[in-house]
Amino acid sequence: MIVASNFKTNHNRKSTKEFVDFINNQNYFSEVRIYPPFTALNNFELTPNIRVGAQNFYPVQNGSFTGEIGFDQLEEFDVETVLVGHSERRHVLGESQESICLKYNFAKEKECEIVYCVGEPKEIREQGIEAVMSYIWKQFDGIDIDYDELVVAYEPVWAIGTGLSASLEDIKEVLDNLRAKVKAPLLYGGSVKVETTKDILDIENCDGILVGTASWDVNNFSKMIEIADNL
Ligand code: PGA
Repeated sequence: MIVASNFKTNHNRKSTKEFVDFINNQNYFSEVRIYPPFTALNNFELTPNIRVGAQNFYPVQNGSFTGEIGFDQLEEFDVETVLVGHSERRHVLGESQESICLKYNFAKEKECEIVYCVGEPKEIREQGIEAVMSYIWKQFDGIDIDYDELVVAYEPVWAIGTGLSASLEDIKEVLDNLRAKVKAPLLYGGSVKVETTKDILDIENCDGILVGTASWDVNNFSKMIEIADNL
């Protein structure tokens, strides 16, 4: 099982270190991923099942891209896992499928683990599963789904940060459809809470969760990992 926390624009350098150290000291055996803001990246000493990664990057090693972070800067902190295609990057920051592909391919060249996020907005969900899957498959345009270090996160846009998780049936239906073509581990994300973690992880074809809001409290995140460890 993979249990991942996306800090988004939360936590600072000090609180991230405390968070990461706490999690690292618990001897969990699930695969744990933590994505803090760039400024909180550090040379953490971690057990092999725990990785701290980047929420974003610019698809270059280095260069003249004012305000951006390339792989030179990530490699200084041994970053081996990145998020690509998160809904906030697509819908709030306006990232196109083309620029998402450039990032995907760059991270793939670097043999870095990619948690690739896909998911439909509310108006598509309202049209039913066929519309949902056709929307999601378009988000795989230009993406090598056979990449060995790929993890796919299904995160419906309307469920992210809203407190409204998708139903277990809806999650299962999408994950089953993804599983028919994608062999990578499949995560669900979108308002996952401690109380809903077990039921979501119990879904066939669900290999883990990507959590925002509910994971920012280290005690909650720990509980989620404990639930995964006990499955
Ligand atoms: P949320 O965020 O848990 O706050 O809905 C999930 C995500 O954006 O990955």
